[in-house]
Amino acid sequence: MRSQALGCRLMLGCQLVLACRALSGGARLGARRLAGAAPRVAFMSTTVGAPAAAPRRTMVRTLLESDEAIVSSPVLIKGWVRTVRDQKTLSFINVNDGSSLEGVQIVADAEGTADYAAVMARIGTGAAIAATGTVARSQGKGQLYEVQASSIEVVGECDDSFPLQKKRHSLEFLRSIAHLRARTNTIGAIARVRSALAQATHAFFANEGFTYVQTPLITASDCEGAGEMFRVSTLPAQLSAMPRDESGKELDFSKDFFGKPAFLTVSGQLAAETYACALGSVYTFGPTFRAENSQTNRHLAEFHMIEPEIAFADLFDVMDNAERYVKYVVREARERCPGDFAFFGSLVDKELPARLDVLVNEPFERVPYTTAIELLRAEIAKDPSKWEFPQVEFGTDLASEHERWLTESHFRKPVFVYNYPREIKSFYMRDNEDGKTVAATDLLVPGIGELIGGSQREERLEQLKLKMRESGLKEEDYWWYLDLRRFGTVPHAGYGLGFERLVCYVTATANIRDAIAFPRFPGGCEF
Ligand code: 4AD
Ligand code: MG
Repeated sequence: MRSQALGCRLMLGCQLVLACRALSGGARLGARRLAGAAPRVAFMSTTVGAPAAAPRRTMVRTLLESDEAIVSSPVLIKGWVRTVRDQKTLSFINVNDGSSLEGVQIVADAEGTADYAAVMARIGTGAAIAATGTVARSQGKGQLYEVQASSIEVVGECDDSFPLQKKRHSLEFLRSIAHLRARTNTIGAIARVRSALAQATHAFFANEGFTYVQTPLITASDCEGAGEMFRVSTLPAQLSAMPRDESGKELDFSKDFFGKPAFLTVSGQLAAETYACALGSVYTFGPTFRAENSQTNRHLAEFHMIEPEIAFADLFDVMDNAERYVKYVVREARERCPGDFAFFGSLVDKELPARLDVLVNEPFERVPYTTAIELLRAEIAKDPSKWEFPQVEFGTDLASEHERWLTESHFRKPVFVYNYPREIKSFYMRDNEDGKTVAATDLLVPGIGELIGGSQREERLEQLKLKMRESGLKEEDYWWYLDLRRFGTVPHAGYGLGFERLVCYVTATANIRDAIAFPRFPGGCEF
């Protein structure tokens, strides 16, 4: 089954019929490799009736992972040139097609490759080519196979102004050419791992019996006050032209598109709760928007959140689910992208593999907030000058330095902190019996800090109304949310995981702006 899934993933960009054929061939190849049976390269065969020697496209990863039987087979490789080394009548062209970190070496020469000189004159770094040839055992180091090209079609030329010439570029520079940066090793690897994490997310929740819901991106209530919101409006852009109420002071949003103020959502949670209270276990996975002025390496104005919501569940069910989820997706991503992880572990952060081993193999730590405060106070007392915020007591909203000390220095593994003071948490979180804390949890992980925020929801109508009053929220704005507590209310709980922070964590990416294709942040909306 695995090799079949792999074959499917690797056949991107092929026509459906061809992909299916190649898939079954790839699956057979994998099965033979396991069984040690006599090899036969089925996926290289040509279509009956088609001109001879016109092999279908092979993805580079498929080629590099093939067994010895592929040697001498005809192949067609399509991709972008990373490097070219010329030696008079012989050229080595490294081609990458995005299917793996590694490219494949195409060998062209005056004798064997059609129109050698003319073709090579048009090929430089960045060019798109389609090379037809035969697989050979590689003479060079570092790779098993190479392709002896019989012909090379230059699909798209690329001139010397292409900014990604062979040298190391800083991630800052790459951000300024975000439309091209996915063609680099680092950003390409992050993109593949990100995709594997997203696909594993859906697999995890499907396996656990969750229903996937898409909650709205445009919302009319400042749901939950999770962050500053972006307004969605069709009113004229100039303030002077905007409709005013009778007093002339306030803007008149009854003339706006929705007849009232509308915003981009900061979280799908409240909508997800309505579906959890019908379908049991649900999750959303979509973009969320926060207009905070945070220029940190952990904040984006547009990011993606995974938000499961579970009926008949409490805070501990949520911690259990979150731990299973994180372990599952990290395991899956490592299995699907071994080359990319080898790259991160050797060239980005040597400690990453050990950190991920701890993550998938050891139970996460769980500490009540009050214990976390005691631990921090004891540590800070040793040398308060080392801390930016040395004042820590019950009621303190933990700063990043506190969270990172707990997870990186003290526990050295992911840790759930739970039962936070009610004053510093949202109105919808369930009051604990002590009258001081709520059933909320944050998952803190090394290198990142907060990865998940979750809670058991306040399911008692009167208690929820009280909490809304305390937070200055109007009941009429949340009538439908309160209805959930009127009609068959149940204990329920959920969490939100910042997907880009997960990507950073898993790939040892220091800046969240490199964990998403086109980052949006204060002052940054290019591309
Ligand atoms: O802790 P938060 O604000 O929780 C909620 O929004 C809840 N409604 C979630 C729920 O219970 N369904 O956000 C959840 C997570 C954070 O832990 C963090 O990982 C991420 O979302 N996050 C951000 N990621 C990138 N940029 C930002 N500006 C982020 N704000 C939060
Ligand atoms: Mg939070």
